[in-house]
Parts: sequence; C-alpha cells; structure tokens
Amino acid sequence: MDAELAIPGISSPPSHSPQYKPLSSVWEGSDGELLETMLQFYPSIPPEPILDATYNTGRFWKGSTRKVDSMDIDPAHSPMILADNRDMNGVPSKHYGVVVYDPPHVGPQGRDKSVKRFDVDFGATMACGKEHGWSLSYLYPPFLKQAKRVLKTDGILLAKITDMVNSHRSKWAHCDFMRMAEEAGFTVCDLIIKIRRGPMTSNKWKKAHHARKRHCFWIICRNGESCERG
Ligand SMILES: C[S@@+](CC[C@H](N)C(=O)[O-])C[C@H]1O[C@@H](n2cnc3c(N)ncnc32)[C@H](O)[C@@H]1O
Repeated sequence: MDAELAIPGISSPPSHSPQYKPLSSVWEGSDGELLETMLQFYPSIPPEPILDATYNTGRFWKGSTRKVDSMDIDPAHSPMILADNRDMNGVPSKHYGVVVYDPPHVGPQGRDKSVKRFDVDFGATMACGKEHGWSLSYLYPPFLKQAKRVLKTDGILLAKITDMVNSHRSKWAHCDFMRMAEEAGFTVCDLIIKIRRGPMTSNKWKKAHHARKRHCFWIICRNGESCERG
C-alpha cells in the first residue's frame, strides 16, 4: 500500500521503512536542487549519462557534478550537440539514463517578432502563432519520439512545463504534454508543482484576466510500463 495514503500528512511515522524518504509534490527551492533530488528519487537504472535537450546556458547544472551532455538548437549557447531535439540527428539510441527537457513556454516577445536578448536568454524563439493554435505544444510529439529512442529501457524523462495565456486564451501545455507522453509510449509517473517567489509582470499589461502564474510543473515519465521503481 502507498504509505502516503495510509497516514496522510505525516511524513515519517515510525511504521515506515527506513528507506521511505518522502518527496513533496510542491517544491519551493531551485530547479537545480529539485533536479538533483529527482535524480536520487526516481531512477531505477543509473541516471548517467544525462541528456539536457534544451540546455541554453545550463543554469540547471550550476554546481552539479553530474555527467550531462548539452543539446540546443541555438549555436549561441555552444552546446556539445548542436541539434533540433525533434530529430536528434547523430545521437545514438538507448544511450541515456535520463533526458531533461525545458522547452520554451512563450513565443517571441514583442510585436515585430524579431529575436531579442530576452528571447535568446529564455529560449523564446520558436513560432507560437495562429498556424500552431497559439500554443507551443506542437513541439512535443517529435521530441517525445526522439527522447524515447535515445533513452535506455526504464530511463527517465524529466520535463519542466509551464502553462500560458496566448491570444487571450489559456493554453494547458502540461495537460498536452502528459497526454502526448502517454501516446508516445511513456508512463507518466508523477507531477511536481514548482513555485517561484513572485509572478512575472510587465508594466505594459493594463488589466488582469487570468491569475498570474507563480508555478510550473515538472513531469516525470518512465520509458517503460511501470510507474514505480522495481
Ligand atoms: C527555456 S530555455 C532552457 C533553459 C535551460 N534549462 C537553463 O536552465 O538554462 C529553452 C532552450 O531550448 C532551446 N530550444 C528550443 N527549441 C529547441 C529545439 N527544437 N531543439 C533544441 N533546443 C531547442 C532554446 O534555444 C533555449 O535555449
């Protein structure tokens, strides 16, 4: 039986096995700290080597000693693997214990759609217009197919997904991602809500219609049939 169901709200009662170390479903620390915690919690096979398929400047790995291969589509970030994670040309199959994915969650900022410093720094460079239903979820299926290919059996996919409002409508990217991951053959094992201190705001916004997001989701998927460690 699941220990969390047995005694709700109590993290380590004496009846728990000494190996039971709970991981909260809400995280208030940094992404890097959460990643390291997840790398110790979820894998059933050795997690390394790790592929970070949206590396940017590698903020996730500052201070980490993990063996990480960096991939990015933008040569400005000098990744080890300069590639589109939707085809991952040249990357061997069944090679990684973990794939990490932090795709853009907004499209290019500003009316002229030219690439700006913010866009490069935060990866907001992929088209997100009418032709894509004002959403970036079209990026997920081809990436998921490649992530499944390059992961070892029972390897883990850790994806940071943020919902957004675009063209005056809420876009539920985390729902799309979870459904698409199952369709791609992953088992979606868990969901962690990561909180940041303050919401992003802009003095250009005059009237609020939606809650300002102060959270994102980390979605944990296993390249296998089982939701839990063996
Ligand atoms: C939100 S940023 C990632 C930030 C990174 N996790 C960090 O902590 O520094 C998204 C990155 O994904 C890259 N990217 C977007 N589409 C991609 C694709 N199809 N293939 C590979 N990289 C992509 C962007 O260039 C950008 O650097």
